[in-house]
Amino acid sequence: MKRGFFICIEGLDKCGKTTQSMLLVDNLNNRGYDAVYTSEPTDGRVGKLIREYILKRKKRVSAAVEALLFAADRTEHTETFIKPNLDRGRIVVSDRYIFSSIAYQGAAGVNPEWIRKINKAAIKPDLAIYIDVPINVIASRCKGEGSIMEKIETQKAVREVYLKLVRSGDLTLIDGNRTIEEVAKEMEKIVLERLESKNIQRFQA
Ligand SMILES: Nc1ncnc2c1ncn2[C@@H]1O[C@H](COP(=O)(O)OP(=O)(O)O)[C@@H](O)[C@H]1O
Ligand SMILES: [Mg+2]
Repeated sequence: MKRGFFICIEGLDKCGKTTQSMLLVDNLNNRGYDAVYTSEPTDGRVGKLIREYILKRKKRVSAAVEALLFAADRTEHTETFIKPNLDRGRIVVSDRYIFSSIAYQGAAGVNPEWIRKINKAAIKPDLAIYIDVPINVIASRCKGEGSIMEKIETQKAVREVYLKLVRSGDLTLIDGNRTIEEVAKEMEKIVLERLESKNIQRFQA
């Protein structure tokens, strides 16, 4: 069966994931590839629970329960969106994926091997990019907004896990502390090299 190419974009809050994921999809489509944007947590029912219980802090749950909710949302995302699009030969760009769970819930003390286990249904990305930005730059981009995912101490611990995943080869690091255009150009270069080496076909001429 024809299979597309799965890319996930990872990093701290405000590192530029959404900006860069959308630019990447536009750039790929402009080059004649068939690329689609998607993101986690999703807009599905479990994604809504995550927003209510975790991101908006309506009700505190343990980090293990957070990990389970994210894994459930990701399983639904994979089954209903990512896999069907890959099966159609598309390039899927996901704004956050399994490495967000390993980084955030892992930094909160949840065993990373268990996180990988409960995410067994998640498809392994062909390319997982981590946009690295120093904590002080993240803090200046946050300008006092205070979701629990954005506290400085949390950010530091999460960044450490992401950097560990870079060292283990799970993630490819891109320096995000540059202009949006510079980051986008490097990301496009890395992705195009991979698509060409994997012989991924263009949609149009
Ligand atoms: N390279 C960059 N330099 C300066 N500001 C940036 C850069 N990339 C993104 N931003 C800005 O930072 C904020 C967060 O970007 P966003 O793409 O939403 O990050 P994320 O999705 O990782 O939270 C936005 O206001 C965006 O315009
Ligand atoms: Mg975003």
